[in-house]
Amino acid sequence: MLRRLHPDQPASFAFTPANQAWAEAQITKYPEGRQASAIIPLLWRAQEQEGWLSRPAIEHVSEMLGLAYIRGLEVATFYFMFQLQPVGSVAHIQVCGTTSCMICGAEDLVAVCKERIAQHAHELSSDGKFSWEEVECLGSCSNAPMAQIGKDYYEDLTSARLNEILDELAAGRVPTPGPQNGRYAAEPLSGLTSLKDHDSGKTQYNASVQLAVDIGDTVKRIDGTEVPLLAPWQGKPANSAKKPKAKPATKGPVPSKGQPADATGVTVQQAKNQSKAKPPSKSDPKPAKADTAVQEYDTPGKKPRTMKAPRKAGADDLKLIRGVGPKLETLLNTMGFYHYDQIAKWGADEVAWVDQNLEGFKGRVSRDNWVDQASSLASGEETEFSKRAKKDGIYK
Ligand code: FES
Repeated sequence: MLRRLHPDQPASFAFTPANQAWAEAQITKYPEGRQASAIIPLLWRAQEQEGWLSRPAIEHVSEMLGLAYIRGLEVATFYFMFQLQPVGSVAHIQVCGTTSCMICGAEDLVAVCKERIAQHAHELSSDGKFSWEEVECLGSCSNAPMAQIGKDYYEDLTSARLNEILDELAAGRVPTPGPQNGRYAAEPLSGLTSLKDHDSGKTQYNASVQLAVDIGDTVKRIDGTEVPLLAPWQGKPANSAKKPKAKPATKGPVPSKGQPADATGVTVQQAKNQSKAKPPSKSDPKPAKADTAVQEYDTPGKKPRTMKAPRKAGADDLKLIRGVGPKLETLLNTMGFYHYDQIAKWGADEVAWVDQNLEGFKGRVSRDNWVDQASSLASGEETEFSKRAKKDGIYK
């Protein structure tokens, strides 16, 4: 397949401040003189931010790595995972067209894409919201036919269900990924034949879908504030050195709806304002002594004030904070956090401390911006996620 740069190119490219800090930290992974090895992660990050790789993006990354532009272009045009043309501002649909999926109906899914999105792969829909392509086996053959949309898999698809999914995405909602026919995972269609009694501790969705629901960023562009990159070789979180300047926030799991970045109609997700977490003031109560069994690390930050038990009215439902599932809620309670207003008071130091001490869930506080979510919930407002969680009965 001939892979060329798109004829319509934006005038410039810049990483968001958080993505720039992330990219700079990636480069430090490599020994002196070997910085070029960071080319793929940096190009990928540029694509995660913009949806596709423009010529200015490839040149920007090449400059960061001290490479001639042709070197960056060679890599970007070689790998099919790099999109060299604008993709839909809401979602790019990647339909698997390999054997299992083809036998089970992939052609029907492609027909839906042709009818609903564009006649040809890699073309934008007339409203610029969608694009599609056929891809090789995505390794989910037992749930054929399937498609990858954004970062997640939608499996056991039918043309009717794909139509509904496109409707939901167009309306600004993100359908739950995973099997779309009621299957939990990849068990036989007729149900389990063995290990029937081994479902204690089972989450509502299978592991990958549960994670997708918890994270809620299926079709969101990556602006760098989602997961603080831990850079142990530097002894600190990679994006701790540079605090991104305040930018308009994007809305959690809702697809990109920002300003068109260029004439191609592609939108840019702007950096979420993670710095909203207030620095601790002198009037803030001193942190309580450690009263939990949670392991504490020699990490930057300050332990927030904890409580030995919830107030009389009972603990808040912390699972209404996007990114907090049942396990994380239990962990937070164990640490002495029961209420939205406790989390809403965390400043940057407290966020850093909790991020480092959530064993198994490090970085979740800043990744999902719990402080802003908790502030809204503490004041009685709903967030996009809490509305959806209540409506869909997530975790209930
Ligand atoms: S053939 Fe479609 S996922 Fe493997």
